[in-house]
Amino acid sequence: DYNVNIAESAGFCFGVKRAVDTVYQQIDKQDTVYTFGPIIHNEEVVNDLDKKGVKVINNLEELNDSTKGTIIIRSHGVSKEVQEEIEKSNLTVVDATCPFVKKIHRVVAKESEAGRHIVIIGNPNHPEVIGILGWSKEPVTVVESIEDANNFNLEIEKKLCIVAQTTFSYKKFKDLVEIISKKGYDILVLNTICNATEERQTEARELASQSDAMIVIGGKNSSNTQKLYEICKEECEDTYYIQTLSDLDLNQFKSFRSVGITAGASTPNNIIKEVHTTMSEMSFEQLLEESLVTIHNG
Ligand code: F3S
Repeated sequence: DYNVNIAESAGFCFGVKRAVDTVYQQIDKQDTVYTFGPIIHNEEVVNDLDKKGVKVINNLEELNDSTKGTIIIRSHGVSKEVQEEIEKSNLTVVDATCPFVKKIHRVVAKESEAGRHIVIIGNPNHPEVIGILGWSKEPVTVVESIEDANNFNLEIEKKLCIVAQTTFSYKKFKDLVEIISKKGYDILVLNTICNATEERQTEARELASQSDAMIVIGGKNSSNTQKLYEICKEECEDTYYIQTLSDLDLNQFKSFRSVGITAGASTPNNIIKEVHTTMSEMSFEQLLEESLVTIHNG
């Protein structure tokens, strides 16, 4: 028989899906809808939202008294200050911060209040980290590299609380925490890395190992899709990296008995579905053709 299997973890993680769904739900309410920053780094989604009248606000200066409607905070979250500023505006705020990120905000607020110096293991320029920073009562240290960890030194002896950017690599996090741990501080470490990325990769590897061909869907510049492609290619020689259905040469798939599909973190569900439906229909036609041949021969 012929199988087309789709990875359960393909595409948006829980937090991003929730944020994107929130925007679409708000559009239906016929208010002017704003998002604070692009809701997701995917051109198709952003263009579609643009067509539906959703406006992107990139900083607070763009807000004025005549800005009315609803504004959605995306899954990355924002700092406390930004949140309060937005709340003061004439806009209705819908907070779509991922609950896992929200949890980091709460921990940072509480532990900094209790006198711990906050250390964030992550990329200092990433909006999620910039948001987390702003929930601490006191200045925060962001550690991204071995060098940062080696250089880490607080003049006054202090207790620490270490958290991680949700998408940071677990191995690197462990290494950096280990370096800081040797410096003799009283440390509270919270591993706040989200396992959505790892799950997607593990599942892709498994599916690829069971499939004759593998389709990986995602943006050309998406580093997590690239990574998925590499993982699948290791397990399955016939792995194809596509952006949309139109990149797929269907004739190539005629000889495969089982096809697996996965997608990067910013690939919208409708693109994944379209590929899945087409492949499934093709497999049906294929079966039909083969059974006709069999009958004919018989
Ligand atoms: Fe996604 Fe939330 Fe994890 S946005 S990657 S589910 S922290």
